[in-house]
Amino acid sequence: TLNIQLDKPLHAVSPTLYGLMTEEINYSYDGGLYGELVRNRTFHDHDWSGTARWDLAHTGDAEVTMAIDDTDGPSEALSRSLLLDIKQADPANQAGVRNEGYWGMAVRPDTTYKGSFYAKGETGDMGPVHITLVNDNSGAVLASATSESLTAGWQKYEFTLKTGKVETSSENHLQLTLGHTGKVWLSLVSLFPPTYKNRENGNRIDIMEKLAAMHPQFLRLPGGNYLEGDTIEERFDWKATLGPLVDRPTHRSPWNYQSSDGLGLLEFLEWTEDLNIKPVLAVYAGYSLKGAHVPPGPGLQSYVNDALDEIEFVTGDANSTKWGAARAKLGHPAPFPLTYVEIGNEDWFDRSGSYEGRYAQFYKAIKAKYPQLQLIATAPLKRTKPDVIDDHYYKRADEFFDFVKHYDDADRNGPKIFVGEWATREGSPTTNFGAALGDAAWMTAMERNSDLIVMASYAPLFVNVNPGGMQWESNLIGYNALSSYGAPSYYAQSMFAEYLGTEVPASTIEGEGHRFFYSVTRDSAKGKVYLKLVNATSAPKPVQINMSGAGTISASGMLISLSATNPAETNTISAPTRIVPEKTGLKNLSSNFSHTVPAYAVQVLEISTK
Ligand code: AHR
Repeated sequence: TLNIQLDKPLHAVSPTLYGLMTEEINYSYDGGLYGELVRNRTFHDHDWSGTARWDLAHTGDAEVTMAIDDTDGPSEALSRSLLLDIKQADPANQAGVRNEGYWGMAVRPDTTYKGSFYAKGETGDMGPVHITLVNDNSGAVLASATSESLTAGWQKYEFTLKTGKVETSSENHLQLTLGHTGKVWLSLVSLFPPTYKNRENGNRIDIMEKLAAMHPQFLRLPGGNYLEGDTIEERFDWKATLGPLVDRPTHRSPWNYQSSDGLGLLEFLEWTEDLNIKPVLAVYAGYSLKGAHVPPGPGLQSYVNDALDEIEFVTGDANSTKWGAARAKLGHPAPFPLTYVEIGNEDWFDRSGSYEGRYAQFYKAIKAKYPQLQLIATAPLKRTKPDVIDDHYYKRADEFFDFVKHYDDADRNGPKIFVGEWATREGSPTTNFGAALGDAAWMTAMERNSDLIVMASYAPLFVNVNPGGMQWESNLIGYNALSSYGAPSYYAQSMFAEYLGTEVPASTIEGEGHRFFYSVTRDSAKGKVYLKLVNATSAPKPVQINMSGAGTISASGMLISLSATNPAETNTISAPTRIVPEKTGLKNLSSNFSHTVPAYAVQVLEISTK
């Protein structure tokens, strides 16, 4: 029996409870959310030949070789290029290169692709570059364009590829060829499909739509380990991710591949704007994954100053601040809203014990300039009381079932809690229904404690499901070049975030047995009660629900139900909607009604009150 006292609110629900966390892992941005179709566009990914993802292409008896030229590039940031030496070619026998994309390139009918590249000819009479989208299997040209004639100095060339009535497919490549002999240097070869909200240098539409459907309130950016880098040099150096792509040097992600940095700080912020959510800005705090740290003191000050500049870039006035003006110059005069700044990531890994002093130095400087900001610590502290502590939990479902009371008796006078990373780790590359049960059980606990827990974000969110695309097993949204899908837990999380009240009323439960979890929240303004029920057992669970103090309860309500026949069931790229929520009407509701939760089920009951 579940007794709910709707007229006895215990506390408000944090309005920012559910949000997003991502980083460059599992090809989350490059080969994922970020729309770019060309892989290794700046020739920084090296394989044994030095030209990973690029192959020679020629027709007839044209001849060409390629090599990396480390001495020449289109900018100071991109000081390397691909050198093509075309020994034999004419307009009818073309020679050049092709790019395989991120496990293919999605091509759709009646679609316009915008591309560009930087090139330099050995002489000024090398002629134009022919650009084609070609099907790998049939060799059919799906779209083509011709650039202006190359010059003897570095220049940017833009082109448009428009498909007609082609079939949708991903086994395609981009080809750039010339009909002239001589040497040609290439760099920053780029091709974009239409993007979410038509942003230039923007994001994939299907994945952004999936994020919007999660009803998030914030985005924790830019990581994760990705913030720290393996070494200090490989940290997320936000200043090197701004401005024209040709001025971004790219850098190595700690997840063992090069990040194009096409998704730089401003793109992260625009992403939050597109979803109408707030950034939670994590600033590099002088510690990197392989153990290097900058001790507190004068040596750390340049990193503190960098964080202050970064906050100014996000929030500063376009007319009166240096970094606000820099943001305006890049096309975004309006400041972004900012409440939370996180100092580092998982600094409990720093065995030197320097975090206490590093946090204090950042805290003092940031609070002096921005007293309104809430500062998040990533490890327990003795000397400074942080506003918020970031706790991370990666567990199995049975561990989460046993963990649900963790915050029930936690100190309410201490720092607030940000569960900045959490996940039930069962199933790969995306998690299975058993994990959704663990996640749902944990979410009932977070809602019950949402006076203390101000924010929570699942991690990792994304995985490219192609072989080699995954560095971390157990993720929420999987994709290949063509399509994307959500794990069962994606739907559980979307349900929990969509149907969330503004306060937690008093409630008690008796005789619920094992592995049964619930949460109840109420939105008085909307006249709604949201009852979440999680049955993680193999038997249906009847529940008697008594609600007092609500006035009149409408007889009809709504049930949103996510269930499976066994915990191992899951969604995959080829069976993406095997487990999705079902909505049905509820009848005969009253202040005292019974409801049976099926075996292995996560349910939301939306109840209307008058
Ligand atoms: O989510 C994967 C990794 O787990 C994050 O990068 C890191 O913060 C944590 O250890």
